[in-house]
Amino acid sequence: MVMSVLWNFIFPPPASVVVWGTTVISFVMLANAFLSEIRGKHLNYSKFWNANPTGQRQIKLSSKAGMLLLYTPAFLAAFASFFIFPHHGLRFTLLQSAVTLHFFKRVFEVLFIHKYSGGMLLESAIPITLSYFLSAATTIYAQHLTNGLPEPPINLLNPGIVLFVVGIIGNFYHHYLLSKLRGEGEKEYKIPKGGLFGLVICPHYLFEIIVFYGIAFISQTLYAFTFAVGTTFYLLGRSNSTRKWYLSKFEDFPNNVKAVIPFN
Ligand SMILES: NC(=O)c1ccc[n+]([C@@H]2O[C@H](COP(=O)([O-])OP(=O)(O)OC[C@H]3O[C@@H](n4cnc5c(N)ncnc54)[C@H](OP(=O)(O)O)[C@@H]3O)[C@@H](O)[C@H]2O)c1
Repeated sequence: MVMSVLWNFIFPPPASVVVWGTTVISFVMLANAFLSEIRGKHLNYSKFWNANPTGQRQIKLSSKAGMLLLYTPAFLAAFASFFIFPHHGLRFTLLQSAVTLHFFKRVFEVLFIHKYSGGMLLESAIPITLSYFLSAATTIYAQHLTNGLPEPPINLLNPGIVLFVVGIIGNFYHHYLLSKLRGEGEKEYKIPKGGLFGLVICPHYLFEIIVFYGIAFISQTLYAFTFAVGTTFYLLGRSNSTRKWYLSKFEDFPNNVKAVIPFN
């Protein structure tokens, strides 16, 4: 029953061990990151870069270097796909463009928008880099394998483009608001204001989730939907930890501000 509904929205999954394997690996990694967040064991970057010290000597990167390490391989993989798989039609070109633009924007923000205060542990950077690289490459490769297959009966391409554009603009705008909280060289944390910060403490995560459903709708592959669901879980966990962090750090943090889903 569930499967027969699903086949209206997605291309038949390919008989590819690589895509099936990556689908399972991506989902398990994100679900594991979600469970770790809600158990208080954080990936060590941003506010939580030095949480859960193990006592062992660990390699620390600056936030800027760490973030560039996370996003650059995924951006290059998506960009290279234009040369590896040219001319597969409109849906494929839109998907390649969306994935490339998403990771290009990330690299751009790391270089020119965000103002960082801390660092990142290499131990956290490696699985995240792998996860982004695998997801960018597999999203595009899974789409390549749909080449020549009949389109799903219900076409989600146009709503996908709308979701992607809304998501990427909303995500960028809230990153910009966060960057305005600090003057040059300042490292302090403040309570964010403006945009949807009055409703949720992680509106940038909310718009990131919308970006990934935009990509899944454009793509209509099982892999892209699985990755969007996995990302949703992880960002729900991380935003929940972030809200607890604000409540513990600021006495005047408004209790009605939720983590990532407004009014829940
Ligand atoms: N797809 C995925 O699985 C996934 C996973 C994680 C993140 N992301 C996305 O990546 C983007 C960045 O995520 P993130 O977790 O690094 O975001 P973040 O922790 O909110 O940090 C973003 C930037 O804002 C600064 N900042 C945050 N709160 C601040 C405050 N209260 N006062 C002053 N500055 C503040 C941070 O500085 P510090 O570095 O000093 O904290 C950093 O420069 C988000 O859009 C998110 O959706 C995606």
